[in-house]
Amino acid sequence: MNMKRKLKMGLIGLSAAFLVACSSSGDKLTIGTDAAYAPFESLDGDKIVGFDVDLLDAVMKEAGLEYEIKNTGWEPLFIALKNEEVSAGISAITINDKRKKTYDFSSPYFESVNMILAKEGTSIKSAKDLEGKKVSVQNGTTGQEALEKMFGKNENIKKFDNNTLAIQALLNGEVEAVVADNAVVQEYEKNNPDKKLVTISDKDSFESEFYGIIFPKGGEHQDEINKALKKVIDDGKYTEIYKKWFGEEPNVDVLKQ
Ligand code: ARG
Repeated sequence: MNMKRKLKMGLIGLSAAFLVACSSSGDKLTIGTDAAYAPFESLDGDKIVGFDVDLLDAVMKEAGLEYEIKNTGWEPLFIALKNEEVSAGISAITINDKRKKTYDFSSPYFESVNMILAKEGTSIKSAKDLEGKKVSVQNGTTGQEALEKMFGKNENIKKFDNNTLAIQALLNGEVEAVVADNAVVQEYEKNNPDKKLVTISDKDSFESEFYGIIFPKGGEHQDEINKALKKVIDDGKYTEIYKKWFGEEPNVDVLKQ
């Protein structure tokens, strides 16, 4: 082979290798969510929007990863993670020891606490007033867990597949209260003045929680995603997104403990 031909063959080989590299790294990661938890994730037409969605986008851009977000629903998301059908999930998911046994988490990106939503004129003033009353929760959430811890598993705790249905049960009069994450409960109350609802906080009964991006145990991308999340928090992009959704400055120090 003469020099020119060798060079040509080499170039062809190189571009083939390049194509292979591109197509494998060009594979989109699928990230699951349960888009019924505004302001973190909800549907606007068929588009998933929210704080988590914007944060995920910033993080994936920073990590240089292509992705698509998929509305899997809540419990199916955990199954999909176990089966590695999704690479990660973002869904206002509280990091806790029970979940850490089965899944990996990023570092924390949001502080939250459970809160009570009830109708105006309710006699409920704190979590202990929920005893003996019908209360709805989204099945498999920390809201359910908190109630079961306080009152034991019992049939007054009404469990629904998503938080929209849990709220619907309150509006229908099936239950006297909903327990869910504070930002979600407050957002609903604020956006639906006609429903005449009140929010009741009880920081003595409900523990502080932190959200994390969730991964299958030992999954492939958590290091890069976690690094990118740290960068997005440190460089101010997180603050920008937080202000867009919550209209105030975040306390980022609380995420760094
Ligand atoms: N933070 C709570 C938990 O992890 C509730 C999250 C519910 N998220 C959702 N997208 N429905 O259990």
